[in-house]
Amino acid sequence: MKNVRESILELNWESFENLSPEKRGDLAKKILAAMTLEEKAEKMAGDDSFIHVIGMLIHYNKSPISAGNIEELGIPGIEFTDGPRGVVLNHSTCFPVSMARGATWDKELEIRIGNAIGIEAKSQGANFFGGVCINLLRHPAWGRAQETYGEDPYHLGEMGSALVQGVQQHIMACAKHYACNSIENTRFKLNVQIDERTLREVYLPHFKKCVDTNVASIMSAYNRVNGSYCGHNEHLLRDILKKDWNFQGFVITDFVFGIRDGKKAINAGVDIEMPYQWKMKPKKIVKWVGNGEISEDLIDDAVLRILRQEIKFAKKQDPEVYNSSTIVSEEHKMLALEAAQKSIVLLKNEHHFLPLKSSSLKKIVVIGQLATMKNLGDKGSSRVYPPYVVTPLEGIQKAVGEDIEVVYDNGKNLQKVKQVCMDADAVVIVVGFTYKEEGENMTFGGGDRDSLRLTEYDEHLILSLSEVFNNCIVVMEGGSAIITEKWRQNIPAILMVWYPGMEGGTALADLIFGKVNPSGKLPIVFPKNLEQLPHFDSKTKEIEYGYYHGYRLMDKEGYEPAFPFGYGLSYTTYTYKNLRLSKHKISPEESLEIKIDITNSGTIKGEEIAQLYIGYNNSSVDRPLRDLKGFARISLNSQETKTISLHLNPKDLSYYDSKTQKWVLEEITYSVYVGPSSQETDFLEATFEISTA
Ligand code: BGC
Repeated sequence: MKNVRESILELNWESFENLSPEKRGDLAKKILAAMTLEEKAEKMAGDDSFIHVIGMLIHYNKSPISAGNIEELGIPGIEFTDGPRGVVLNHSTCFPVSMARGATWDKELEIRIGNAIGIEAKSQGANFFGGVCINLLRHPAWGRAQETYGEDPYHLGEMGSALVQGVQQHIMACAKHYACNSIENTRFKLNVQIDERTLREVYLPHFKKCVDTNVASIMSAYNRVNGSYCGHNEHLLRDILKKDWNFQGFVITDFVFGIRDGKKAINAGVDIEMPYQWKMKPKKIVKWVGNGEISEDLIDDAVLRILRQEIKFAKKQDPEVYNSSTIVSEEHKMLALEAAQKSIVLLKNEHHFLPLKSSSLKKIVVIGQLATMKNLGDKGSSRVYPPYVVTPLEGIQKAVGEDIEVVYDNGKNLQKVKQVCMDADAVVIVVGFTYKEEGENMTFGGGDRDSLRLTEYDEHLILSLSEVFNNCIVVMEGGSAIITEKWRQNIPAILMVWYPGMEGGTALADLIFGKVNPSGKLPIVFPKNLEQLPHFDSKTKEIEYGYYHGYRLMDKEGYEPAFPFGYGLSYTTYTYKNLRLSKHKISPEESLEIKIDITNSGTIKGEEIAQLYIGYNNSSVDRPLRDLKGFARISLNSQETKTISLHLNPKDLSYYDSKTQKWVLEEITYSVYVGPSSQETDFLEATFEISTA
């Protein structure tokens, strides 16, 4: 008769696809029971050698990074690919960065992007996507701003969980970096002091939403929170994530310096050390269990968590779905284009300067080094290698064909530029940031931004050209907010294109010439100056994160931003009417339906992003003036009206009481604000009451 180990070895992992959660749990327990302590310990560590890790410095993640592959029992383990801009392995579709996708406010699109990422990853041998970055942007100087979706916990949760949904149609997804990771240069040392209410209400809800979407894994962050490294932080990992939120997946460390002490990490709730066995060497784990420093129950819990997810995602390697033709397929390229088109934000458009009418143009001048640069963003762990990139200049040249003269100038010699622009019908100035000034902190550059302004030279270039020519369009590239005060008033049209991915140049031209109507809206505030932002110091090892940042801070202090959160222009106009609530008094258990009619009152088709904010009247605690709690993107033909319907769950209006350690839903009157941005003047308003009486 076969022994248990032989029967485990003979399991066909591809047949697990349709197992119920109960059966998956039973199977995981059966496999666990057959494993030796040594094998369980192996399951908790990356398979890579130190030498291989050194190799990663040459071309990081060219092939999947394995962890917990137990050959003796035929247990496959995880095969990691990074993101979020696409699949980091080899050559894959390069989508716009997450911050750009945040500006689409399009959850359905994000699910489709996740789906494409899942297919491309699995087609290249990965079963785990480590690219759902949902750190809240506390300050726009954060070097890795481009990897996340924005500054608001509700919006971040919606976008992040959409990516999880899409990816997990195929492989496991991992949300990172848990938690409070938003200063890059000192990320290995930084201690973030934060009170419990701020942590729960501002820095964690988006992680909770991904957990509620059944994300398979969470990556702990490098930094410390309240004195303890995130990978050693029992409060974050065990109390909140695994107990309060009932997270069923497993925790991996951030790479190499994610933990400093294996024992502390396991006790705190880390399940896998990535990418190689260093602080959690299997031999040590066996020893710690042997001498009672770690209970074997903890090891069993960790391994069960990993096995349950691996069984759940042990889908068939169906060659019809997963094959090399899916990688940078026509369909995925079109998706990258759609995302770029929807993510570009038209910040300014005086006297309808844009779109340019091709029929009345003879000559366009395109200026700036970034116009010819394949500027995809950061070159750290999120770098994707697409087979081609359409630059802004190429996009414009392709759009106008032979009919219009397109002249390029790198902008280095001001006198020459002015000459070139003399008889131009439009001047497109492309400026902004690259992987050198912002991104993951690498030896060749990146890190936190030194300045939120353009370079002095670029500001001077813009000002000098705007003095002579009134037909300049400024196109800005970058991962987060740019301060434009010095020159904003002088320029009729400004576009924020972020790092728009491999089809970015095509998308830019589509917007400039009106083939596509702009629809992106800012997922972060663009401030007028640094004084409007919380304190940020990229050299600090100690910082306190307060309750307010971004638009909430602006609202609280009465600051007027350069461009508000949720703001973006279109070539058409929209009118909001008939705000109506399903009820004006609800019990804490009831949900509220909020309806509104939106009309495209202009002459061309467009897509509008409507936003719902909530205000708290007479709350017993300090609360934001307005809190984003819903949004919807709709497509409207000229003169068409549609009704949108948003649902509010009272639970989401609770505040966290640090004393009682409970969420409190107040029985007070709440204000409802619906409009096209977070700007006060734009809203339709109503109120409702929550009451048990
Ligand atoms: C980054 C993570 C990344 C990991 C693997 C770390 O340096 O912080 O975001 O997933 O490396 O490359």
